[in-house]
Amino acid sequence: MKKHELIFDERYVGSVAVNHVSKFYGEDMEVKALDNLSLQLFTGQFVVILGASGSGKSTLLNVIGGMDTVSAGEINFAGVDITQLPDKVYAQYRREVVGFIFQFYNLMPNLTALENVELAELPGEMLAIDALKAVGLEDKADNFPSELSGGEQQRVAIARALVKNPKILLCDEPTGALDSKTGKKIIKLLMDMNKDKDKIIVVVTHNSAIAEVADRVLKISDGKIVSDVTQKFPKDIKDIEL
Ligand SMILES: Nc1ncnc2c1ncn2[C@@H]1O[C@H](COP(=O)(O)OP(=O)(O)OP(=O)(O)O)[C@@H](O)[C@H]1O
Ligand SMILES: [Mg+2]
Repeated sequence: MKKHELIFDERYVGSVAVNHVSKFYGEDMEVKALDNLSLQLFTGQFVVILGASGSGKSTLLNVIGGMDTVSAGEINFAGVDITQLPDKVYAQYRREVVGFIFQFYNLMPNLTALENVELAELPGEMLAIDALKAVGLEDKADNFPSELSGGEQQRVAIARALVKNPKILLCDEPTGALDSKTGKKIIKLLMDMNKDKDKIIVVVTHNSAIAEVADRVLKISDGKIVSDVTQKFPKDIKDIEL
C-alpha cells in the first residue's frame, strides 16, 4: 500500500488549496504575516514565489508544510483540512507528504551525508543511497557536512527530501547561499524531481531570474498574493543567468 493511502484519499492528492488563511504575530496580533490569503497549487507545477523581505513567503511555506499553525482559514490537501488534523496524523503529513529544503541546508553536522538522508527514509520508498546517487553524491556518502561544499550540502538536503518521494516539495531560498553556477544546478535538480509531474514544487526566492523557468509565478506583498501568472512557455534553465 502506498503511504499516502494511510491517511489521504489518493483520488484527491492532486492539489493543495489555501483558503482565506491569515497568520498574525505580536501581542495584539498587529503583524499580519498572511492576510486572508487564498491559493490553489496543482501537481506537476513548478511554482516560484517572489516577494520582498518580510512579505510572508516563509510563513506561507511553513503553514502549507505543517511547520506552523494558521490564525484563521484552512489548508486542504487531498480533501482534508490539515489545520484540523490530530497531532499524530499532522506529524505523518509532515513526515510523509512534505519535503522541505532550506537556504542553509539544515543538515545534522555530526551525521554523514548518507546518515542525514537515512533520517528521512520511509518504508516502501527509495533507499538513502539511491537518493544520494540521484543527486550525484554517492562518492561523498561518508563525508560529514563540514567536508562538503555548499552546493554539495544542498544536494544532500535535496536527497533527504527526495528519499521520501514527497507530494509537496517546499523550498525556501534554496539557492540563496550558492554561487550562480551551483544555484542553476540546484534548480535543474529540483525541476528534474518533477519529471513525472507527480509533485507540487514551490520555490521561494529573491532572484527573479529563477522565475523565468517556472510554470507559474506568484508575487506576494504584505501577506497577500498580488500577482499570479501562468507561463505557458517557461525558459529553459540553460538560457537563464542567475
Ligand atoms: N515568529 C515570529 N514572530 C513574530 N513575527 C514574525 C515571526 N515570523 C515572521 N514574523 C513576521 O511576519 C512577517 C512575514 O515574515 P516571513 O518570514 O514570512 O517573511 P519572508 O517573506 O520570508 O521574508 P525574507 O525574504 O526576509 O525571508 C514579517 O513581518 C516578520 O517579521
Ligand atoms: Mg523567508
